[in-house]
Amino acid sequence: MSTQEFIISSLEIVAERNGDITSVVYDLYYQNSPGSRELMAHIDHLVQGRMMEEVLRLLMVEDTSREDQYLTFEMKTHEEAYNVAESMYVSLLEAVWQIVREGVGEDWNEIYENAWQERVTSLLEEIKRHSPSRKK
Ligand code: HEM
Repeated sequence: MSTQEFIISSLEIVAERNGDITSVVYDLYYQNSPGSRELMAHIDHLVQGRMMEEVLRLLMVEDTSREDQYLTFEMKTHEEAYNVAESMYVSLLEAVWQIVREGVGEDWNEIYENAWQERVTSLLEEIKRHSPSRKK
């Protein structure tokens, strides 16, 4: 199985067992990322849900190079309109990773851990590469 297949498999296990992880991910994220709760305080559950759907989609995509336009757009609005700091992406993706690790529980193993390590690292690299302040 490929890295992406392990990511998808772990997300499927968690979805089957725990249903929607959106609110637990945000709770952990806010706990670990100073300022994030305040930044998202005006956002309702619907928008939070849509954002989480996109985060999970990006974690699952096979070919991130096809996300060039999408990432350019989101990173620009997130940085310039919402004042999102780079470190916040790290905390958000680590929160997803932690919740999935806990959700998979006893079935979690080194292969899942390595797949998540690899995927989170490469997605964060892509996110940083698309950050408007880095492009200047
Ligand atoms: C890969 C990471 C991320 C992706 C793909 C993403 C995606 C999105 C999307 C699609 C929306 C719009 C939802 C809608 O209106 O339909 C959104 C809104 C928002 N995101 Fe993110 N997001 C990411 C990370 C973050 C982080 C780390 C923060 C930091 C707190 C953040 C803060 C916000 C805020 C404040 C809004 C709402 C803006 C508004 O409508 O006023 N996002 N995000």
